[in-house]
Amino acid sequence: MTMIALLPGDGVGPEVTKQARIALEAIARKYGHDFQFIKAAIGGDAIDSIGVPLPDATLDLCRSADAIMLGAVGGPKWEHIPVALRPEQGLLALRRGLKLFANIRPVKAPAIPWPSSPIKPEVLAGTDIVFVRELTGGIYFGEKKLEPVAGCTKGGERASDSASYTTDEITSIVRVAARIAQKRRGMVTSVDKANVLETSRLWRRVATAVIRDEFPDVQLEHRLVDSFSMDIILRPSTFDVVVTENMFGDILTDEASVLAGSIGTLPSASLGHPDADGRQRGLYEPIHGSAPSIAECDVANPVGAILSAALLLRLSLGMNEEAACVEDAVATVLGTGYVTPDLALAGEPAFHTSDVGRAVARAISDGDVNGFAR
Ligand code: IPM
Ligand code: MG
Repeated sequence: MTMIALLPGDGVGPEVTKQARIALEAIARKYGHDFQFIKAAIGGDAIDSIGVPLPDATLDLCRSADAIMLGAVGGPKWEHIPVALRPEQGLLALRRGLKLFANIRPVKAPAIPWPSSPIKPEVLAGTDIVFVRELTGGIYFGEKKLEPVAGCTKGGERASDSASYTTDEITSIVRVAARIAQKRRGMVTSVDKANVLETSRLWRRVATAVIRDEFPDVQLEHRLVDSFSMDIILRPSTFDVVVTENMFGDILTDEASVLAGSIGTLPSASLGHPDADGRQRGLYEPIHGSAPSIAECDVANPVGAILSAALLLRLSLGMNEEAACVEDAVATVLGTGYVTPDLALAGEPAFHTSDVGRAVARAISDGDVNGFAR
């Protein structure tokens, strides 16, 4: 029996994780697995029901689970409560509490570029990037201060967020990126701001040493985040594996999602060091947020969550064939024109979250999407 902790969270989180669960249940039926899903609260959902964004019971469940599937956290409803109790703190505390330091975000141009994409098909062609974002360090977790400033404008304040990285933190994340690159085109692009930031200068030195000493077969290039953010749109197909620190990774992956047609299609895996018994801890979530404006409308794209379930199968459960089956099913469904409004062309039909999810489950079971033709 495999235990999967299910943390739907806020906004569109419950709708999209429901479809990911349906896909996993279709896989369980097809391949004879026993997946047990246990739901727990996180984010605003947990604040409303229990009073804190990451209840102890949720953290305990996640610690004992074989893998964790999460929807999204946050929304305007909780914007006015004290920072330490906001929904996002639940997600950050979960990542940190389980030491999930490596956030893997694959970005692939769709086989047939969406005509709705703002990027030209010839620019997109061949784009296949894996972002490796450091997830438990940097400015997200440094000291934060908000203090009054004497002698300046009445009521004036000063805010600060400090960023730090250690050699060990950088070494660990660069190793993850290099191992992924070894199974791909063997190239790692390390993104920093070494012309300004001390953390970036250490990052650059450590990345250089790790690749030189441990991965002689991997080619490393260093890029500054400002010009890289331009090149990722101008020349996306020239990148293979991109490794970067927490905040740059947050920003760059939203930018790069445009290459995939919609942020709604992108999955992610957050991984720690494997346990002593070889078990790979992992938290799987779509990279889109809670999208409160479309919550409960049954229009959110479930593909990011469903593809996150595929990563869960592959990376935490070692079920490669099952993962590929989910990915093929998604490709079939999207290729049939079965898409939510974020991917639909003007004049073409758009389908509901639940319809797309059902079509994926059917494609998993039958290998096609009988009756779901455009
Ligand atoms: C993400 C999100 C989170 C982050 C938020 C919700 C805290 O934007 O997973 O990319 O900034 O890491
Ligand atoms: Mg983000």
